Amino acid sequence: METNNKNQIVEKTLNHVKTVMDGENSGHDFWHVFRVWNNAKNILKSYPQANSLIVECAALLHDIADWKFNNGNSEIGAKTAQDFLLNLGLEKDDCNKVFDIIANMSFKGANVKNTITTLEGQIVQDADRLDAIGAIGIARAFAYGGANNRELHTPENKPELHNSAQSYLKSKGGTINHFYEKLLLLKDRMNTEEARKIAQKRHLFMEEFLNNFYNEWDGVQ
Ligand code: ADP
Ligand code: NI
Repeated sequence: METNNKNQIVEKTLNHVKTVMDGENSGHDFWHVFRVWNNAKNILKSYPQANSLIVECAALLHDIADWKFNNGNSEIGAKTAQDFLLNLGLEKDDCNKVFDIIANMSFKGANVKNTITTLEGQIVQDADRLDAIGAIGIARAFAYGGANNRELHTPENKPELHNSAQSYLKSKGGTINHFYEKLLLLKDRMNTEEARKIAQKRHLFMEEFLNNFYNEWDGVQ
């Protein structure tokens, strides 16, 4: 086990995810992580009582092994993060907190209950969700759709509010459906006031995008 101070832990974690995630094309590339980390640091400014080391480590490692690529198992990524941090010398208790955040933070369907309870977890979850909405969110949704062979829009295929992670993952509609199944729901599901404000602005931009999309789809000039 190494001995590192807080700054070294963050820096080594940053370098590690940069190496491991570089070039990932499904919307979980290093730059997603980098933006989430920045969002988290931004939200942290309003919450001096939060443990910033836990927040930063969880933000940096939250997509290190995604549950969607591991048969719905969200513990593999969380365990990978926990082991990595233990090895860097982060206290065991803090490593466990990072594990809990990563294992519980992902969106698993409109009607599936959120299980994040700590302030640190709420901040990381908000930071991740902010990157799923607005201009970046739109870009990521279509990138994901393309990587998963989804059409842009399938008008005959209506959006569904999923009751389980399994049905959410299986949905095969066009990418436009994803706006109704997740992206437009996020502004009201932010945990922190600071994120809610940012989300509001990004939400309006997505609504404007959808209006224009339908107009162009229908040939309205
Ligand atoms: P998170 O990082 O919040 O867990 P996901 O891993 O679920 O987000 O998804 C990664 C990105 O791909 C997000 O921007 C998300 O909105 C997008 N995405 C996930 N599922 C779909 C889908 N069925 N269609 C389009 N985009 C999707
Ligand atoms: Ni993420």
